[in-house]
Amino acid sequence: MSRRDEETILIVESDSAVRKTLAGYLKNDYRVLGASTGQEAWTTLAKEKVDLILFDETVTDVQGVEFFRNARVRYPDIVRILLTASREQAQVMNIIRQAAVYHVIPTPCPSWHLRLLIDRALESRELSRRHRMLSRDLKLSDGAFHNQTGALTKLIRDSYEFDQLVFASDTMLEVCNLARKSAATDLPVLIEGETGTGKELMARAVHGFSERHEFPFLAQNCGALPDELLQSELFGHKRGAFTGAISDRLGLFVAADGGTVFLDEVSEVSPSFQVSLLRFLQEGEVKPLGAERTKRANVRIIAASNRPIKDLVAQGSFRKDLYYRLRGFELTIPPLRNRIDDIPVLAEHFSRKYAERLNRRIAGITVQVMRQLQAYPFHGNVRELETEIRRMVALAGDGEFLSTEHLSDDLANVLPLDLRRKELNLIHAGGTLKQKVERLEAQVVSEMLVRYRWNQSKVAKELGLSRVGLANKIRRYKLAAAPDATLSRTQPG
Ligand SMILES: Nc1ncnc2c1ncn2[C@@H]1O[C@H](COP(=O)(O)OP(=O)(O)O)[C@@H](O)[C@H]1O
Ligand SMILES: [Mg+2]
Repeated sequence: MSRRDEETILIVESDSAVRKTLAGYLKNDYRVLGASTGQEAWTTLAKEKVDLILFDETVTDVQGVEFFRNARVRYPDIVRILLTASREQAQVMNIIRQAAVYHVIPTPCPSWHLRLLIDRALESRELSRRHRMLSRDLKLSDGAFHNQTGALTKLIRDSYEFDQLVFASDTMLEVCNLARKSAATDLPVLIEGETGTGKELMARAVHGFSERHEFPFLAQNCGALPDELLQSELFGHKRGAFTGAISDRLGLFVAADGGTVFLDEVSEVSPSFQVSLLRFLQEGEVKPLGAERTKRANVRIIAASNRPIKDLVAQGSFRKDLYYRLRGFELTIPPLRNRIDDIPVLAEHFSRKYAERLNRRIAGITVQVMRQLQAYPFHGNVRELETEIRRMVALAGDGEFLSTEHLSDDLANVLPLDLRRKELNLIHAGGTLKQKVERLEAQVVSEMLVRYRWNQSKVAKELGLSRVGLANKIRRYKLAAAPDATLSRTQPG
């Protein structure tokens, strides 16, 4: 019995002869059910597990668009294919758009063509099902990792995923919950956050979770272009509208019809562009440069800014009415340094991602590295973390841990949080100023010795001491080398 035998196709077709013919094409490979009306189809769907619906527009009690719109809501996993005699392109496009069908097949259709389409449709459904399962498994996989001594340390909290966003912090969970709510609406969304915090990824997630997900998501960086170009990128232009406009241009708003347009760095646009944008948000109409007539475009706007627009409104450089329009939902992504719970899961995520790309196995990330990462302020946010990990993976050998030796200088030199805390304790513990300073000095020297693996010439140089001076301090503070715990492989020398 082939795998296909388990898959069920429901043919909704009013003409019983045609229904039989269609069933004949398919019944060797699939389980085939029939219905002659929409009503009958619903009854079958309520009782049977169905994988694909073939709906012929000849059915009279309900229109194909209506039927599939409903089916999409009630049985989103069933593949929808419409058979229609119509050759009207506009009408067919309309059906595809409104009912999000997998395919519209013009009838009559050769049997091999129908078979091929159905095979492919079910294959791609199966692939996306497996992909979903794998992602879920990954999400549930134990975030524990080996530390240097081989013990299992659970530093990583359970991670969550929202589309491609990975996180563990409560603050991100809140933002993503709000984002999910926004996805269910058609309101504009304004995403604010420092550069590299994941604004674009968030915009894609909102689109991906919205009804529009099968339509385009088109992004435009508004910061980089002069006004006229930006206008023509978004609204389009007629040939000859300005110097250099050598042919008509559709414009992003029309090209993304049915989908989402992401306006990045929206805070940077000129006052006159703000007016055009406001008009678009109010009317849903675009007027290409140099054109006489306006066109309608059904798009959802998601805008992003790395400066709080509220402040710009207060300064008078951003229109208040536009701000109010844009922030149907307002999502603020905090800087990475304010959600350090996300750092370990992101680090793991990126190390997996880049290890896979380089076809390399990474054993894990050492606890020490995690501590350094969490202590670093990451002004470039997630993007900077991603670059760091990518670099570390490239430096590490196959099967190795990412350890402190792979860190870039900036990160290697940051003092981990618990050390900072230790220092504060050293300072606040009792004693005279001299005693406090000495405790601190002992701590700094000992830290440096560990960092440079007791290479005393390097430490002396780094601290601006002579070798003898350093040796004196080691003796005075009774510092001794401990077995080096931060290494996961033997160091030459
Ligand atoms: N939560 C996250 N999970 C996974 N990757 C992320 C996350 N946030 C950001 N990134 C990655 O960081 C980089 C910067 O994100 P991006 O969305 O371009 O930020 P922004 O638009 O705010 O500058 C991208 O490579 C993105 O994939
Ligand atoms: Mg960006």
